Amino acid sequence: MTAPLRMNDPIVVPVTLGTRSYEIVIGRGLIATLGTRIAMLRPEAKVAIVTDETVAKHYVKPVEAAVAAAGLTVMRVLVPPGERSKSFATFEQVCEALITARVERGDIVIALGGGVIGDLAGFAAAAVRRGIDYVQVPTTLLAQVDSSVGGKTGINSAQGKNQIGAFHQPVLVVADTAVLDTLPAREFRAGYAEVVKYGLIGDATFFSWLVSNYQDIFAGGPAREHAIATSCRAKAGIVARDEREIGERALLNLGHTFGHAFEAAAGFTDRLLHGEAVALGMALAYDFSAHKGLTAKSEAARARTHLAAVGLPTYVNQVPGGVPGVDALMDLISQDKKVKRGKLTFILVHGIGQAFIENNVDPAEVRAFLTEQLSR
Ligand code: NAD
Ligand code: GLY
Repeated sequence: MTAPLRMNDPIVVPVTLGTRSYEIVIGRGLIATLGTRIAMLRPEAKVAIVTDETVAKHYVKPVEAAVAAAGLTVMRVLVPPGERSKSFATFEQVCEALITARVERGDIVIALGGGVIGDLAGFAAAAVRRGIDYVQVPTTLLAQVDSSVGGKTGINSAQGKNQIGAFHQPVLVVADTAVLDTLPAREFRAGYAEVVKYGLIGDATFFSWLVSNYQDIFAGGPAREHAIATSCRAKAGIVARDEREIGERALLNLGHTFGHAFEAAAGFTDRLLHGEAVALGMALAYDFSAHKGLTAKSEAARARTHLAAVGLPTYVNQVPGGVPGVDALMDLISQDKKVKRGKLTFILVHGIGQAFIENNVDPAEVRAFLTEQLSR
């Protein structure tokens, strides 16, 4: 059931990056405040909303109204929903639309949508006129806790996901949690995997809190805002310390090496959503760590039990349509994580909330582990 629209004081999480610092503002009903917030940053700006057709049906008019009410000129660019819009063709379409509308430096692009729109519009903002400021208005749980924060933008190439892009930080992130009420349940659940990720990476207390409070998060209660804010604080801290992923930021890839291989095997289609692949990948990263004697089996079981409790896949045999054999999976893993001196990099764990970067993983060990998982 849709929770009532209530307006409490928003939660503000700073992302501290010197002259490129910005705020993440989190709360129900914040779209109504968007125009005033942008006018405070850029009083004379022209505002271009980039969004997908599904999100537009629900939210483009309220966003336009809020921006116009603040006295700013507003226009929109619509693209089809889905991962296919992270393409050269759609990128070109968005860039040309912004140039045609004479969007200049000093104006603002709004990325209104999930991670696909955030990545695409953010990259167009990075490229058009060598850089226009943009505001992230994430509308999926995944985008509110992960992709809208940290400035990674980009599109896919024929050779792989996110192969073309730029670091371009937004000037503001406005996460209106009321918009999650229209998100399909499966998309919400997939985004929840990224929330659990922050507990599994570095915050055992948050993980335990999620185990006790996930029902309220799914029901749209006050726990939802707390979970989003805690996730954003964790990501903001990591991004502030390691913006360009020289070190610590790689921890955010927990579950992604295994996960990407299954996502790629499923052709990056709805067969396996990104968050579902990450859930499966995290369960496997915990199992693999236990297999290597790095963590107790009971810790791997705790991680899996919670992910499974919300309905996320945690075993390979839960991938709809099945997965390819171990040779194909090892090929996908080696492409995703370049083999350096015969070794692979993985995010492994010493327990819940104790992830670390391991640069010295023997591919033969991964192969043996996956062979065993595939036989279950
Ligand atoms: P998405 O953007 O495709 O959105 C999922 C679906 O939900 C779409 O069909 C969309 O139209 C619909 N939708 C969005 N908001 C809605 C709402 N409020 N109500 C109803 N429908 C809504 O998918 P996603 O999971 O948000 O993002 C996945 C993308 O994010 C991937 O391309 C991934 O690579 C990227 N990503 C980027 C980063 C980063 O740091 N830049 C991090 C994680 C993931
Ligand atoms: N989602 C991974 C990152 O932002 O680094």
